[in-house]
Amino acid sequence: MQSMHQDIDHILVSEEELKAKVAELGAQISADYEGKDLLLVSILKGAVVFMADLMRAVTIPCGIDFMVVSSYGGANTSSTGLVKIIKDLDQDLSGKDVLIVEDILDTGITLSHLMPMLQMRKPNSLRLCTILSKPSRRKADIEPDYCGFEVPDEFVVGYGLDYDEKYRNLPYVGVLKPEIYSKN
Ligand code: IMP
Ligand code: MG
Repeated sequence: MQSMHQDIDHILVSEEELKAKVAELGAQISADYEGKDLLLVSILKGAVVFMADLMRAVTIPCGIDFMVVSSYGGANTSSTGLVKIIKDLDQDLSGKDVLIVEDILDTGITLSHLMPMLQMRKPNSLRLCTILSKPSRRKADIEPDYCGFEVPDEFVVGYGLDYDEKYRNLPYVGVLKPEIYSKN
């Protein structure tokens, strides 16, 4: 039977490491937001796996909401320019303590445009939690308030992250074999 696992060159963050880190982040966020009106905001589709795990590791009452954004530019393996809201949040942010839950902070360009747009809606606070970060790729002046793992400058897949819309369902974070890219 064909398996996605065959396409992986090496694993960067294992399922066990992800599980332990998400538990740690959930406990930290629960302590930090005690007594606050926490709203977890996830950006589809990459952050959906992390969101599903993180929300269950948060032990205080909180709401969830989702948005879809797209970067102008198009190319699949890099992101450029401004962001466009394709699907907006359902909830009003005013007075809420909003925590953006993201898959990866790469150049930071997407969130450096999106966060000021959300800030204009007058949340009580606005912070960022990413499961992965590639500090060496940063172009915008933005850093996560909560971060799971720093990864090197390699294109990664799994735990929500895709290559050509595939591999999001891998339970770990890994790097594809070079021949997978050359197929396209
Ligand atoms: P940024 O604007 O460069 O920080 O990147 C934003 C988005 O690009 C992320 O939310 C991901 O969806 C995507 N992205 C960045 N790096 C990777 C990667 O290594 N694998 C898969 N998607 C990535
Ligand atoms: Mg994304």
